[in-house]
Amino acid sequence: MYICICKAVTERQIREAIDSGACTRKDISACLKAGTGCGKCNPEINSLLRRGRPEA
Ligand code: FES
Repeated sequence: MYICICKAVTERQIREAIDSGACTRKDISACLKAGTGCGKCNPEINSLLRRGRPEA
């Protein structure tokens, strides 16, 4: 499923980036460009980051 329509980035790509160590939305936009268009996907990227991160 596409999370970022503008940059055609899927949920799977974002999860893989999180698994490889991306910790912030900035990391995600740096490696995948997700969230660098209209910005509408940013809340969804944030929630994937929260879910993907082990609780401290
Ligand atoms: Fe991600 Fe527009 S949908 S920047």
